[in-house]
Amino acid sequence: MLFWESPNVSEWAVWMRRTLELAETGRYGVSPNPMVGAVVLDAQGRVVGEGAHLRYGGPHAEVVALAAAGAAARGGTLVVNLEPCVHFGHTPPCVDAILAAGVRRVVVGTTDPNPRVNGKGITALREAGVEVLVGVEEEACRELNHRFLFFMSRGLPYVSLKMALTLDGKIAAKGGKSRWITSEASRRAGYALREEMDAVLVGVGTVLADDPRLLRHLALNPNPRVWRVVLDSHLRTPPTAALFTHDPESVMLFCLQGAAAERRRELEAKGAKVVEVGDDGKGRVNLHAVVKALASRGVSSVLVEGGGEVHWSFFQEGLAQRLYAFVAPLVLGGRDAVPAVGGGGFSAPQEGVKLRFLRWAELCGDLAVVAEVMGV
Ligand SMILES: NC(=O)c1ccc[n+]([C@@H]2O[C@H](COP(=O)([O-])OP(=O)(O)OC[C@H]3O[C@@H](n4cnc5c(N)ncnc54)[C@H](OP(=O)(O)O)[C@@H]3O)[C@@H](O)[C@H]2O)c1
Repeated sequence: MLFWESPNVSEWAVWMRRTLELAETGRYGVSPNPMVGAVVLDAQGRVVGEGAHLRYGGPHAEVVALAAAGAAARGGTLVVNLEPCVHFGHTPPCVDAILAAGVRRVVVGTTDPNPRVNGKGITALREAGVEVLVGVEEEACRELNHRFLFFMSRGLPYVSLKMALTLDGKIAAKGGKSRWITSEASRRAGYALREEMDAVLVGVGTVLADDPRLLRHLALNPNPRVWRVVLDSHLRTPPTAALFTHDPESVMLFCLQGAAAERRRELEAKGAKVVEVGDDGKGRVNLHAVVKALASRGVSSVLVEGGGEVHWSFFQEGLAQRLYAFVAPLVLGGRDAVPAVGGGGFSAPQEGVKLRFLRWAELCGDLAVVAEVMGV
């Protein structure tokens, strides 16, 4: 049955909203798994169990909620924002736990495009005689797990660009200084994004100008490690870079085939991984090869943190899905200042990359904007 054919959708929407609140508690711990929350109602419609997936490899939300409900789940309803799994991963299939608990109905927010699930969870429940409603609060459920859903259906990491810019569109003043354009609150929000993503990526121009460490500073994620990726066609990153002062094994440099052999040895001696990829036709590393290589290492999400040349390449190649812009009430001017998006630029407004504003907020005097590239 499709959800709009169900007379009870609005009744379930309230509980689906609650599953999303529960799922939120896993925001910083579950990637590359999805954020999932579950609520169990008994046969009279009273909440008897709640659960969330809190950390990668940990128990799934459905199992936690059913364990909390115990015998009260029998004949009741399980509400969950993502289709329950049917396969053995780090934990046994949730569908088995649901059937063992004897619930009469399962309400699902959205299906799981993971090839190992992809409708099989719903089919298995229906075949066992459980009523299944699908698509309750689907848009909100898809938004919560947009990166997971993209990675599972496309096999490529979801790429978000983060930039701190002036109102006149600069990310650094002439001469390259960018510290600091935005408020501390904006910077903190940017650091929080790092804690959600599997990888942070910059161009070698940013490494040479800012000498960043790109670490997780906020300890929101129990896993302190994030891949720190540099696009560096000719290996200009110095082995003395601040990137290598902490956890150098999590630094990954993408270069062209046969790039500076001696420098490569020095960087590898530091512990960094050096990955050779093909040319983009302009003498730089090919971004399509980079995102594929990251996907093959299980990276489901990437936060691109500059600079302007790299931002342009991601937009131009159609590899950027979302933009987080922190806009300061500041004008730097100067044709030699670094633009938020550099490159050659498009020749007409019609050719530009179209985005859609999703959310915006004031952040200690700055404007924080989240926008999605259209057509993704
Ligand atoms: N406010 C902010 O949010 C923010 C954030 C970051 C940086 N910044 C500022 O931005 C400035 C650096 O930006 P930038 O534009 O000069 O440099 P960038 O974008 O950081 O790095 C560009 C370099 O990356 C390498 N690269 C390799 N493959 C590439 C590809 N496919 N596409 C594009 N680049 C590729 C190229 O060097 P090779 O040819 O040698 O590989 C290229 O010159 C600094 O002043 C920094 O302070 C500001």
